[in-house]
Formats: sequence, structure tokens, C-alpha cells
Amino acid sequence: MEKKYIITIDGPAGAGKSTVSKTLAKKLDYIYLDTGALYRALAYKTLKLKISLDEVSALANLCSSTTVVLKNIDGQMKVYVDGEDVEEKIRTEEVGLAASKISTFVVVRERLLNLQREAGAQGGIVAEGRDMGSVVFPLADYKFYLDANLEERIKRRYKELLEKGASVEYKSIQKDMFARDKQDKQREIAPLKAPDDAIIIDSDNLSVPEVVEKIIFYISIK
Ligand code: DC
Repeated sequence: MEKKYIITIDGPAGAGKSTVSKTLAKKLDYIYLDTGALYRALAYKTLKLKISLDEVSALANLCSSTTVVLKNIDGQMKVYVDGEDVEEKIRTEEVGLAASKISTFVVVRERLLNLQREAGAQGGIVAEGRDMGSVVFPLADYKFYLDANLEERIKRRYKELLEKGASVEYKSIQKDMFARDKQDKQREIAPLKAPDDAIIIDSDNLSVPEVVEKIIFYISIK
């Protein structure tokens, strides 16, 4: 592919967005932008400082006093908070749920908006999140919405965490996933939904390579 496109991949937690986006970016030699990591990074600091997750003035202070930087490390944008590489620390369910909570606030979303747009300014990017095609990159060249049913997503997340060596209970993943879906889909600003012009891919019965192939197929014909 000659032109450096902006490709967006939105969808709910556990739909396989990260693995698919990472694999796709590698195949195309594009940058991979995981925007959930930005919300997780701010949530991590919120938890660390024991700031209330639903107090807007405290969150506004946090947003203005925190430096968030994206660095391209081997084609993947990594997040640094106040100079600290937080990649390992932000991958817990607790941080994910807190990220979902604080992402309902406009002050948090606005704090991270330009950072995301700047990362995609040159094109050649696979941007993954909840509002990539709807808000951050409304003029993206290709928009995909990756979905899977709730039970399947819970199973995948459970397996993924077990493989990472985390001690987790299926029931608690079930509860967290349900809460996150509700929060991400029902919030007032930039709620999770498939953009009208997105191609919807249901990954229930598809492997990661199959989803990636499908995406590459759509890009080649459109
Ligand atoms: O993709 P993830 O699970 O790492 O995202 C964590 C939370 O961050 C998610 O539940 C909602 C929020 N988020 C968002 O509001 N907008 C995005 N573009 C990405 C993530």
C-alpha cells in the first residue's frame, strides 16, 4: 500500500481489538496506537494518588498537572506518565475499570484528544479504542468496529489474564466486563458505538489471523 492511511478499530472490551490492531499494524508497517492505554495511564495515577474517581475538580487538577507523552517504540506508541513508563502497571482489571470510569468526564477526554490526533497526523496508523472513528479520527480512511458476544469476551479476557499469571476469578471478570460495557456504552460523551460508516466485524467464530485477513480484504477492495 502506497498511501499511509488512518485505520480505526473500535469495539467493546475483550473483542480482540489489541491483538488484531497490533498484528495489522505490523503487517502494514504502520504505527499502532492503543488509546485505552492513555485512559489507563491517567487512571493509574488517579488510583496511585487516591484521587476520587468521580470528582470532576480533582480530575481536572490531575489532568493539568500530569505530563502524558507518547513515544514510538518499535512501531508501537508507548505511554509515559510524568516520565514513567507505565506499560506494565496499567494492565490490571482495576486500572481498566477506573479508566472506564474517568473516561466518562469531558475534562479527561479533552486532555487526551490532541495527543491522539497528533499521533495520527501523518497517517500510517492503526488506532484502537472506543471513539476512534466517531470522534478522534472522523475522517479516517477505513473504520472498523470489532464485536463479539459478552460471554465470549469474558472467556477471552479470563484466559488472557490466566496466561499472564494473574490470579483472577471468572465471576469477577464477568462483573467487571458487564460494568465496563455499561459505562462505555451509556456515557454521554463519545459513547462506544459503531460509527455509521464503519465495517462491523463479528469475531465470535474468527481467529485473530482471520479477522486481520478480513480487514486487509476490505482495505484492498474499497
Ligand atoms: O481498551 P481498554 O480496555 O484498554 O480501555 C480502557 C478504558 O478506557 C475503556 O473501558 C474506556 C476508556 N477508553 C475510552 O473511553 N476511549 C478510548 N478511545 C479508549 C478507551
